Amino acid sequence: SDIGKGTYPFYMLKEIDEQPSVMRKLITKYVNEDGSMNVDPEIVKAVQDADRIYIIAAGTSYNAGYASKRTLEALTDTPVELGVASEWGYDMPLLSEKPFFIYLSQSGETADSRQVLVKTNERKIPSLTVTNVPGSTLSREATYTMLLHAGPEIAVASTKAYTGQIAALTFLAKAVGEANNKSEAFDFDLVKELSIAAQSIEATLSEKELIEEKVNEVIADSRNAFYIGRAEDYYVAMEASLKLKEVSYIQCEGFAAGELKHGTIALIEEGTPVIALISNNPKVSAHTRGNIMEVAARGANVLTVVEESMAKEDDDIIVTEVHPYLAPIAMVIPTQLIAYYASIARGLDVDKPRNLAKAVTVE
Ligand code: G6P
Repeated sequence: SDIGKGTYPFYMLKEIDEQPSVMRKLITKYVNEDGSMNVDPEIVKAVQDADRIYIIAAGTSYNAGYASKRTLEALTDTPVELGVASEWGYDMPLLSEKPFFIYLSQSGETADSRQVLVKTNERKIPSLTVTNVPGSTLSREATYTMLLHAGPEIAVASTKAYTGQIAALTFLAKAVGEANNKSEAFDFDLVKELSIAAQSIEATLSEKELIEEKVNEVIADSRNAFYIGRAEDYYVAMEASLKLKEVSYIQCEGFAAGELKHGTIALIEEGTPVIALISNNPKVSAHTRGNIMEVAARGANVLTVVEESMAKEDDDIIVTEVHPYLAPIAMVIPTQLIAYYASIARGLDVDKPRNLAKAVTVE
């Protein structure tokens, strides 16, 4: 395609900036004029018939699967299990009686995921590919397809596909919940909430200078870094650390904040960057605050990314409030920008990190 960068120095920044419009586009694609969900009823039925949802993916798409797990479980009342494609292709665990497989893949071409799809097809297990590329291999070979409508993603490091995948699976979750007559699904006003999420993304995008400043102060010169968070914030931490590694080459791990003390805290020394994610989840936020104190007491250089209602005076990056189901979409944006500016500060080719390919079509 002849998609250009326009005035952007890198595709990654352009694609980060496109996320509000991707969210709005998804509303037009997955919602009917009367407000009902526009999701293929056959897909809804297939999920209703399943006793377990298996999400298979690699890289960022795998992290998007985790970020979607809670909403899918809450609205479909079906347990969701994640599988790393490269592992499951060779060693499929014991499956439930009525499995339904979701293949999450921006490109629809990841060979590791296809390897699993070949196996589930052999067993005649119904499947859905959620992808950005119509007609891609995984789309053609799965029973059903849902598209991300995110437009071509050129930067190797995936951004808008991650948030697009979470949004697409949220539409699916709501559609299934409504088909099951679940009041919580009807009460969840996804059009409104996703519009609010798009605004939250825009608000974060208007803080680029602040984020770049913080990155230069705390992260850019470091060899390593940690992301910590609990519950959904932990899932976002996994993606945030992958993104930072991919484009800045800073060694970074995403940790469940409470797990840090069981080993990894040994790595914290004077100046180690620790980025803490705190979304609006009162059950865990105080505990994450406790973990921040623990690492700060050991010399860590803490940067906080906090949803508005949880924010305190000293917090660094504030994310405007969204519905809890959409928190990963809002919370990941600052971390995408953190990765981007860390790469810029190090003078790297943001769009083409060494050793990486946009789609890996070998096992
Ligand atoms: C490659 C890319 C990653 C991507 C992963 C899965 O490794 O470098 O950015 O997340 O493949 O790609 P997919 O197209 O299946 O989502």
